[in-house]
Amino acid sequence: MGTVQACLDWAQTAVLEHSSNSCPPAAVQVSGASQLADTSDLAASAPDYHLDAQILLASVCGRDRAWLYAWPESSIEQQMVDLFQQLWRRRLDKTPMAYLTGKQEFWSMTLSVSPDVLIPRADTECLVEAALNALQSIENPTVLELGTGSGAIGIAIASERTDARVVCTDISQQALAIARLNAENHQIRNIEFLHSNWFDALQKNRQHQGEYPVRFDIIVSNPPYIEDDDPHLGGDGLLFEPRLALVSGKLGMDALTKIISEAPPWLESDGYLLLEHGYKQGLAIREQLLELNYHHIRTLTDGGDQERVTLAKPPPQTPTVSADCIAGAAE
Ligand SMILES: C[S@@+](CC[C@H](N)C(=O)[O-])C[C@H]1O[C@@H](n2cnc3c(N)ncnc32)[C@H](O)[C@@H]1O
Repeated sequence: MGTVQACLDWAQTAVLEHSSNSCPPAAVQVSGASQLADTSDLAASAPDYHLDAQILLASVCGRDRAWLYAWPESSIEQQMVDLFQQLWRRRLDKTPMAYLTGKQEFWSMTLSVSPDVLIPRADTECLVEAALNALQSIENPTVLELGTGSGAIGIAIASERTDARVVCTDISQQALAIARLNAENHQIRNIEFLHSNWFDALQKNRQHQGEYPVRFDIIVSNPPYIEDDDPHLGGDGLLFEPRLALVSGKLGMDALTKIISEAPPWLESDGYLLLEHGYKQGLAIREQLLELNYHHIRTLTDGGDQERVTLAKPPPQTPTVSADCIAGAAE
């Protein structure tokens, strides 16, 4: 048995012991890349420790932080004390809070997360906003999200546009399980999840005239876009996230390039491709889009005024690769 106050005092002491046993924290690198930017350095400031300890203890007790303030002398069962201490030690080793609480806020929703998925970032809300704007004048739109992870983007769009049909793909079955759980928890009905390596499963579906749309009004993606050997990958936060969700080739551009080159036959002629990317990748993306004759190309900035999302309409008259064509080509 312990009390609320005793647990918080213990956490404070553990911080001091931990910092005296470890190297002083490196200064927090301010990176413009969203997938890097939210790796808040646990050791950056004492108030964060304090807040994190409260959030974790409240989460373990199934209460909110107000309860901790109101009832500092409340007893806490030993089992919960043990769990809190175990989580707090992981926090001191820089495990992101979202993986400890199993929750992350995104678009006013609380989403379940696990180490199988990227922790949804606030900057990605800029992509959701852009997608909703692109859909504004379209009734019953079809939406494809590539690389859904926790389902954050697809679920946010589906929740705002209940007339939309949203198809979300990911190559990770574990991620899809979390995404399905989130959709269920938020009672989102207009969403489907598909195991796919980018467009592959949709291509098979098209060949067999399956149940999924063959064109979409928008395709939206926050693909992995960090360079293979980015030194941040070994640092706080990112170290705990799935590599599959973070890195994409030497320049971090492999997934973005693949999506840009393969998206046209999947888009309605007046549709939009919307991509989140690193703050230094905007120019390269615009160049690739131009080269492939996309038009209405625009890059939007995030809350930190960094280039974050690029959108474009597909090249004119991109024929659907029909099942007949594919069969013919194979003969
Ligand atoms: C940066 S995360 C984005 C997750 C989520 N959409 C978000 O914004 O929080 C990229 C996602 O792409 C998925 N992914 C990576 N390679 C893929 C591939 N070849 N095909 C489909 N999805 C892939 C990863 O599993 C991961 O969930």
